[in-house]
Amino acid sequence: MTPRRGLSLITKLTLATCALLVAAMAPFGYLNIRTVQKLLYEETVAAAERINETIVKTTHSFMLLDDRETVYRMIKDAGRQEDVEHIRLITKGGVIAFSTDPTEVDTYVDKTAAACDMCHGGGQPLKQASTMDRSRRFTDAGGREVLGFTQAIYNQESCWSAPCHFHAPDQHILGVLDTVVSLDRMHDQTRQYTQRLATLTAAMLLAIAASLTLLVERLVHRPIKEILGHTRRVGDLDLASRVPVRSADEIGVLATSFNEMTERLQTAKEQLEEWTRTLETRVDERTRELKQMQRQLIRSEKLASLGEIVAGIAHELNNPLTGILVLSSLLADSDQLDPTRREDVETIVRESQRCARIVGGLLDFAKASSPQKVKIDLHAIMDSSLALIGGQSIFHDVDIVKRYADGLPRVLADPNQIEQVFINILINAGQAMAGGGTLSIETEFGPEGVAVRIRDTGCGIPEDHLPKIFDPFFSTKESHGTGLGLSVSYGIIENHGGSIEVSSRVASGTVFTIRLPAAGEGPGQRRPEQTLPNPAPVW
Ligand SMILES: Nc1ncnc2c1ncn2[C@@H]1O[C@H](COP(=O)(O)OP(=O)(O)OP(=O)(O)O)[C@@H](O)[C@H]1O
Ligand SMILES: [Mg+2]
Repeated sequence: MTPRRGLSLITKLTLATCALLVAAMAPFGYLNIRTVQKLLYEETVAAAERINETIVKTTHSFMLLDDRETVYRMIKDAGRQEDVEHIRLITKGGVIAFSTDPTEVDTYVDKTAAACDMCHGGGQPLKQASTMDRSRRFTDAGGREVLGFTQAIYNQESCWSAPCHFHAPDQHILGVLDTVVSLDRMHDQTRQYTQRLATLTAAMLLAIAASLTLLVERLVHRPIKEILGHTRRVGDLDLASRVPVRSADEIGVLATSFNEMTERLQTAKEQLEEWTRTLETRVDERTRELKQMQRQLIRSEKLASLGEIVAGIAHELNNPLTGILVLSSLLADSDQLDPTRREDVETIVRESQRCARIVGGLLDFAKASSPQKVKIDLHAIMDSSLALIGGQSIFHDVDIVKRYADGLPRVLADPNQIEQVFINILINAGQAMAGGGTLSIETEFGPEGVAVRIRDTGCGIPEDHLPKIFDPFFSTKESHGTGLGLSVSYGIIENHGGSIEVSSRVASGTVFTIRLPAAGEGPGQRRPEQTLPNPAPVW
């Protein structure tokens, strides 16, 4: 099941880092803005104080001359400065003696008003106050925030000793200079600073996010994507694919271990395929063996039951047939035989002989169940068989090639019966090579015992005949074949615990392979693994 696709790792990391940065930077930004605001406010207060100081100092000499017009003009000029809202001169009695706002001249100021409250708020008026204590922040009638700065004008010796003698010497404070300046510039600067800070912060966050995305993409996302692609390919059984290992960090280690895992999987898969192939071959071999055994079993049963019947019939036929043959032979040799009947009598003799051959074959077939086993040398038996039949006309144009294995072990067998088998097969081979050919006899010794291979280059056996050739009375030789040669041979070899196999190809030739168990170790005999096996049959 494919998991639901959520936010990518890069997005999550970037968002989390940005959120952390914003959370960490927010209090600093706030404190920063507050500090800037405070500094700007203090600067505005200092500016207001400077205005007041300047007015007090520059107007002092004109005050001593009681030149009020000049004093008021100077205050008015100072009030024209940028950011100055208005400046007023308040007498000790609370009367506004002069103001840049003409409407409030000669009006009284309430002692509880913000401008007075700073010094008069605590009951007894303050004689001295700090710069910050003398400033106040308030909202004017127009709704704008402004800063008021109050400066006391102290009575000095020059004041009460001046010719005008306007002030008494015991009077401590002569009046108050109150300047109100606008805080708009401070607010503008604070806003600008805040905007700049916010822009810078956003740009920094963007830069950090972009760098982080690039780094994570390069160092984490891309390698992980490659590993992911690799896992998909492995899932599709493409076990030859490998992840490129680009670093020695955790991702590199992961890629390496993935490659190792894939390699092991590939080896395991190859082993599994090899085992499957071997298993299939073994199953095929076993199936072939089983089929062969089944065929042998059926044939053995058939031969066993047939053998009993055949033994009885052959025995019963043999006596009358001998009588017919003897008497017909005597008749054929008699001088008193009517010459016109001679040919008929000779036919009786010939056919009787043929019947005798068949009965002889039948008796052989029946007798095959009781071999007289002794240790025999198969090479010697083969040589005597060849000597017996080699003179026959069918072998005149046949080359006989012998490839005997060295040190072939002896077998426990009935020499006469084995010779009979060899003769049957050799005669069949000779008959199959009517126009000449090559008869090869090879022997070998392997784990399955001793094998004798008789190969001819004759007419071959058609495929549909192959399952029948060991059946009694199956023959393609119309006049002279009984069809008992191979069935007798099969029975003999089976009684010896061996096997007989055939492979053939029409017009190419036939190979009969007789296998017999070795009689055991003896002088001059080799162990199976010491023998070099001869090449397998061609067909
Ligand atoms: N080497 C061979 N090449 C071709 N066909 C063969 C060969 N050996 C056997 N056959 C076939 O198998 C049949 C059966 O052989 P088998 O030896 O049992 O009987 P036969 O040779 O016909 O008669 P008999 O052996 O009694 O003279 C033969 O008729 C022949 O068709
Ligand atoms: Mg034969």
